[in-house]
Amino acid sequence: MDRIKSLCSYLENCTVFADVACDHGYCAQYMLKNGLCEKCIISDVSDKSLDKARGLLSSYISAGRCTAICCDGLEKIEGADLVLIAGIGGEEIIKILKNSYIPENFVFQPMKNARELRAYLIEKGCEITRDDIFSDGRNYYFVIKGKAFGKSPAYGAYELAFGRDSLKNAVLNGYLTAELSKKQSYLSAQMSVKARAELEAEVKLIREVLENETDGNT
Ligand SMILES: C[S@@+](CC[C@H](N)C(=O)[O-])C[C@H]1O[C@@H](n2cnc3c(N)ncnc32)[C@H](O)[C@@H]1O
Repeated sequence: MDRIKSLCSYLENCTVFADVACDHGYCAQYMLKNGLCEKCIISDVSDKSLDKARGLLSSYISAGRCTAICCDGLEKIEGADLVLIAGIGGEEIIKILKNSYIPENFVFQPMKNARELRAYLIEKGCEITRDDIFSDGRNYYFVIKGKAFGKSPAYGAYELAFGRDSLKNAVLNGYLTAELSKKQSYLSAQMSVKARAELEAEVKLIREVLENETDGNT
């Protein structure tokens, strides 16, 4: 399944959907086409990127069901009851949230630093309702879905690193196996004592999860 199709399966019915950092606008198109939202906001920091979504969704824009806003993150986004931020880094998503607010309902799909994003959301008292992984057959993607308020049960180290639902998902096994082989190969390179200690800790964590958590998942 392609990334957009899998990503969209985590989106739910809402009144006003905001596709932040939308680029092409395929997720907004999915929501509008399938009648999953009444109105939609498409936004991107790049006007050139946003133009792609404006083109794709021109009929919805003409019908008054879709509004395009060029802005940084959530800066000018108001009134959305579900916000998607996908395809950018976890640190960038954290920056967006820090600069504005945590949306009432959100789906985040960070391209990296998912652990940092989870930690931030938990620290801010969000309820993480789904914390999963999916693959398009080539790459692996973490997806974090939740609410601004509600609190999550305490997260352990494995959950924080890889996501609560990922640990029960067979897809994680493939991700961990690939990460282990990548990180083990990095260990042969020269690096600082600190970098080596961090890398070894990551390798140990992955090994532990592979041995303890993903048994029978494949
Ligand atoms: C790889 S595309 C992701 C598009 C789509 N969300 C997806 O998941 O396929 C990344 C887009 O994020 C936009 N972007 C990056 N940082 C942003 C920010 N702080 N605020 C809004 N858009 C941003 C870029 O301009 C680019 O169009």
